[in-house]
Amino acid sequence: MPSVVPQPVVAKLTRAAIFLVVTVNPGKDSEVAVRGLCADLSSLLRAVGFRDLDARLSCVMGIGSDAWDRLFGTPRPGELHRFREIHGVHHAVSTPGDLLFHIRSVRMDLCFELATQIMARLGEAVTTVDEVHGFKYFDDRDLLGFVDGTENPVDAEAVEATVIGEEDADFTGGSYVIVQKYLHDLKRWNAVPVAEQENIIGRYKLSDIEQEDSVKAPYAHNVLNVIEEDGQQLDIVRANMPFGEIGKGEFGTYFIGYARSPRRTEQMLENMFVGRPPGNYDRLLDFSRAVTGVLFFVPSASFLDNVAPEADPAEPGEVAPPPAAAMPADEGEESRSRMAGSDGSLGIGSLKEKADHE
Ligand code: HEM
Repeated sequence: MPSVVPQPVVAKLTRAAIFLVVTVNPGKDSEVAVRGLCADLSSLLRAVGFRDLDARLSCVMGIGSDAWDRLFGTPRPGELHRFREIHGVHHAVSTPGDLLFHIRSVRMDLCFELATQIMARLGEAVTTVDEVHGFKYFDDRDLLGFVDGTENPVDAEAVEATVIGEEDADFTGGSYVIVQKYLHDLKRWNAVPVAEQENIIGRYKLSDIEQEDSVKAPYAHNVLNVIEEDGQQLDIVRANMPFGEIGKGEFGTYFIGYARSPRRTEQMLENMFVGRPPGNYDRLLDFSRAVTGVLFFVPSASFLDNVAPEADPAEPGEVAPPPAAAMPADEGEESRSRMAGSDGSLGIGSLKEKADHE
């Protein structure tokens, strides 16, 4: 069976993360530089990550809809499109972004070094549109004071929620990711009594225990974000991080949600911004404003490893770079070991069995 290695989308929460969103500058040279980076990313990651294998350095690269057409042409991932803004009770904006680098480690210096190396490699080919350095805040709390991430699926369930299977055969092992940068009005939030804050989130603040269903407000964050299809709950995997700049009065949450279909996250956003039913919106948004919104496709690591810098994107009807699923098994095996490093500690090792499971 051909084997495909996903990027480490389900890597565990870490103490530090960098979220880097860039646009690709006009011109063929820029496209060649980006394609060159795709194939080199695993080696950069290995070089920086090997300096401290216990620091669990990982990197996920995402590609936006317009950039996909410029870089790879067809085939294109079945559900890739620009982030669709939402005009509800609150506004979810859609902002530019061709490439996402989601870099995680227990050490910020490793994140910083990898981001620096990536940007040095890309040089004049890209323009940074957003750069956020996230940090762990006490026991994985957001700056609103609530533990964030508790109900994330883990292990096989996380893979099931995020990694594309047979539904898009050319892109098996890929994933979708939506990012939104939220800024909080902490002064107003902190003036809200804790009991009402708890109703807004649907969990108790100190203990992080979920409220009983009979107690939950209909607009609770965890009511609006539980979605189902045919009686089955549809999960996403979030890796949100707090960030901020005190001098500027900037206190935020960087939302990042991975899913095997962007429809899941979009449905949640609709529930939050428009409401379910309409008008029953997420009160968190009265205190938190989304200032960015971008959707990316996350190709498998095997796909990235096989990108040729110079190749032109295929015209419709032609064949683009070899999709990972079409690789011979031994080639897949080789790229897996290249990405995973000597002991798989670059955050991708645990994916091996999950990818096989998929
Ligand atoms: C200001 C931004 C946000 C903050 C501060 C925030 C915070 C939280 C907190 C504290 C929880 C409860 C603990 C947990 O299970 O993780 C939670 C749960 C959750 N959030 Fe958010 N969140 C934000 C935005 C979003 C967005 C934009 C989405 C989806 C589009 C989302 C989806 C979810 C989901 C699916 C859950 C788990 C619900 C459950 O199964 O109980 N969140 N969030």
